[in-house]
Amino acid sequence: MYATHLVCKGCGSQHPLEARFACDSCFGPLEAAYDHDAIAAGVSRELIESGPSTLWRWESFLPVCAPGRGLPVGNSPLIRADRLAAELGLDCELYVKTETSNPTHSFKDRVVAVAAAKSVELGYEALACASTGNLAGATAAAGAALGLPTYIFVPSDLEPEKIIAAAAYGATVFVVDGTYDDVNRLCSELAYDRPWAFVNVNMRAYYAEGSKTIALETAEQLGWRVPDRVIAPIASGSLYTKILQGFEEGRSAGLLDDGPDPVMHGCQGAGCAPVATAFAGGSDQVVPVKPTGIAKSLAIGSPADGVYALEVARRTGGSIEAVDDDQIVEGISLLAAATGVFTETAGGVTAGVLRKLAERGEIGAGETVVVYITGDGLKTIDAVRPAVRTIAVSPDPDDVDAALERRLASA
Ligand SMILES: Cc1ncc(COP(=O)(O)O)c(C=O)c1O
Ligand SMILES: [Zn+2]
Repeated sequence: MYATHLVCKGCGSQHPLEARFACDSCFGPLEAAYDHDAIAAGVSRELIESGPSTLWRWESFLPVCAPGRGLPVGNSPLIRADRLAAELGLDCELYVKTETSNPTHSFKDRVVAVAAAKSVELGYEALACASTGNLAGATAAAGAALGLPTYIFVPSDLEPEKIIAAAAYGATVFVVDGTYDDVNRLCSELAYDRPWAFVNVNMRAYYAEGSKTIALETAEQLGWRVPDRVIAPIASGSLYTKILQGFEEGRSAGLLDDGPDPVMHGCQGAGCAPVATAFAGGSDQVVPVKPTGIAKSLAIGSPADGVYALEVARRTGGSIEAVDDDQIVEGISLLAAATGVFTETAGGVTAGVLRKLAERGEIGAGETVVVYITGDGLKTIDAVRPAVRTIAVSPDPDDVDAALERRLASA
């Protein structure tokens, strides 16, 4: 393992590789630090290519050794999306990185894999999380696979698919009367005096590192190239910031050719867009909001990494955009019909922002563009129900023909 310590993103102080919420000097967030020279000396494209077909292929970039057990996570498809590009009038190399292939159908399996492995290494005997939905299923499944009791905390307005799936894995699911931000506060209090590894609270520094693997994997799939432009959703801002860090670390390890950073576009639903609002206002401060809207998996009103996301967008010449509920549903339908990938509302946000950038003419000819589709449409069926039509017929071919004619006539 090449991780050496935790470092405070606020004051730079160093801390041991233990379970910690925050810096004890300034309460700033902690992140894993590595011996980058040792990584560069130790890894090569050949070594990575001969590694496992899971996110543990990127073990050298993670703050924990690959465990011998757990669900197979990662190695998600990078799908060339020429029809989607044509539909949007784009003359670029457009790709969709499709995280629905993970064990619980979202990218959250990656962050949980790393946090759960570290929890076991540190001797924890229970997992827990505060979730906007997808983390619940990912943590519950990891707990089941590892044989650890698991405690899940979610806001009560979540999609039932997400709550029921988490409970089906045998986790203890607490449905909290409040927003995600209330749930997160509750979990921070609980984590103080309970011997539970909260994957995104006291294990957050390890959890966040899992998202780097989505970028490293993308670069390998592109033939060891960094894309020119990235479009990714933002809830806490962790995924979005760690995607850039993943590309940067792949470069510093000598795996990827040098070049400019990708232009990073972040995506939020208009019902919970504190980072997009700060970006639009030119502010360095993220003002918390009370979430509304259908993109519940992105409904974090007080995003922990919001200020870092702003910094990433500005440094790379990118942006943080918001799309409303109608645009989210349009994004889901567009992506499904033009690529065969059915995404949940978070992916609808991302696809909606892709369309917005295309309409603004921001995506240049010949660019390599990667859109991160982080979760599965089957988990948010109610969001698209009003936008789809089916045809009721009797089991009679004539009835089918008549119905088709009526449909053609009304189209
Ligand atoms: C499907 C999906 N995409 C993206 C995100 C954003 O994650 P982050 O909190 O790392 O910004 C989430 C968070 O819950 C999610 O569930
Ligand atoms: Zn500090």
